[in-house]
Amino acid sequence: MTNELEEPKFAGKVRPAGNTLNEQLIGKHEATPLPQEPAPLALQAIDVVISYGGQPAIKHVSLDIQYRKITAIIGPSGCGKSTLLRAFNRMNEYVPNVTMEGQILFHGEDLYAPATDPVEVRRRVGMVFQKPNPFPKSIFNNVSWGPKINGYKGDLHELVEKSLRQAALWDEVKDRLYQSALGLSGGAATTALHRSSISDRTRNHPHG
Ligand SMILES: Nc1ncnc2c1ncn2[C@@H]1O[C@H](COP(=O)(O)OP(=O)(O)OP(=O)(O)O)[C@@H](O)[C@H]1O
Ligand SMILES: [Mg+2]
Repeated sequence: MTNELEEPKFAGKVRPAGNTLNEQLIGKHEATPLPQEPAPLALQAIDVVISYGGQPAIKHVSLDIQYRKITAIIGPSGCGKSTLLRAFNRMNEYVPNVTMEGQILFHGEDLYAPATDPVEVRRRVGMVFQKPNPFPKSIFNNVSWGPKINGYKGDLHELVEKSLRQAALWDEVKDRLYQSALGLSGGAATTALHRSSISDRTRNHPHG
């Protein structure tokens, strides 16, 4: 898999802006370059059908998600937003009786190809869940889990404290770090787990 795509290339030279505001605006307008190539795509869903126990939840969905752009998927409850999102990092595989047709490409590569490692997919395509899902372990273990399994070499205690401080949760949980994370409130659990996934990304830049 490729890690980075090049920024889209833009053609045309920017004309020097004029002195008056009007000239500047016209100059800017004329100089606004149009992309020569279509914007690169991070994800593509191609004719995707996902069913639970044979009952389709989404039918023939094709969708492009552009690289480095924010895309919102909006629709009524039960229309299949989460189902589609879970397909983007292969989380539906954990749901019993799910079947999928169609293709999902990540930077042009088939996410469901036999050679694609689903763990690597989930490492690259993060997801913040609607409902928090802490592991039935301590708060400490939940926050440190990602960095730990990724071989973080720094001080895990420091990292956990830093993550929880950044999430403004340290004072709330510092006295019960070794108690079950299932006792966290919904918002706190979501924030803590989200922070932990960010901590995980700092493993190569622990001071970043
Ligand atoms: N594990 C499951 N087993 C069976 N059916 C499911 C399962 N998960 C979702 N569904 C069904 O699939 C359809 C799409 O559900 P999904 O959760 O993707 O919708 P959503 O758009 O994310 O809804 P919401 O806005 O409420 O989060 C619904 O009809 C739902 O009942
Ligand atoms: Mg949902």
